[in-house]
Amino acid sequence: MLNPEDLFAAFDPSTGTIDGRPTITRHLSDLRGLFLDSTAFETAVGDKDPVVYTVASIDFARGEGQLHCGLGVINPGRVGSEYYFTKGHLHSWKEAAEFYIGLRGRGLMILEDEKSGESAVVDLLPNSTVYVPGHTAHRTVNTGDTPLVYIGVYPSQAGHDYSSIENRNFRKVVVEKKGAPAVMDRTDFSHQYQS
Ligand code: F6R
Ligand code: MN
Repeated sequence: MLNPEDLFAAFDPSTGTIDGRPTITRHLSDLRGLFLDSTAFETAVGDKDPVVYTVASIDFARGEGQLHCGLGVINPGRVGSEYYFTKGHLHSWKEAAEFYIGLRGRGLMILEDEKSGESAVVDLLPNSTVYVPGHTAHRTVNTGDTPLVYIGVYPSQAGHDYSSIENRNFRKVVVEKKGAPAVMDRTDFSHQYQS
């Protein structure tokens, strides 16, 4: 059925909402265990448990060949020297690729091949796209001082597999160094925070 009310969706990049569609909110405490510095993490969660990001989604069409899309907004912020980021995931249907489209702010995507572990860190900027191939874990990082706003378009059957990332995390980290974002290997950092 070509129902214009289903096919059209108005979104607001300032609020991260899509009219009539659901939004999920991730607070810092939802990201426990993923940042390098667990002491800085608990301090930052504090009483207020700030919102790190929101995702509004359009998921009314389901089945083979259908598409979903998410409007993500990551607030600016850091835990210690590490910039705010999304949980990160693989798609449950491993073959599913995704297009990210940058709308506002500036950030990076950390991509990691699920089998080889090969990494790539790619700019996510307004008026640009990042292609996330299948079998690739992806995390989005806000390296700016304004909200990072983007859209992701993916097959409706993609699904989200968060557990492998929660267990092993990404090999690359993005930290502030001398006032600018720097991409480092996790192994170069983790020893500093082991008690
Ligand atoms: C969907 C997708 C995005 C993310 C969003 C939040 O496949 O990649 O819409 O869901 O950037 O990130 P996660 O899902 O890792 O919390
Ligand atoms: Mn995805």
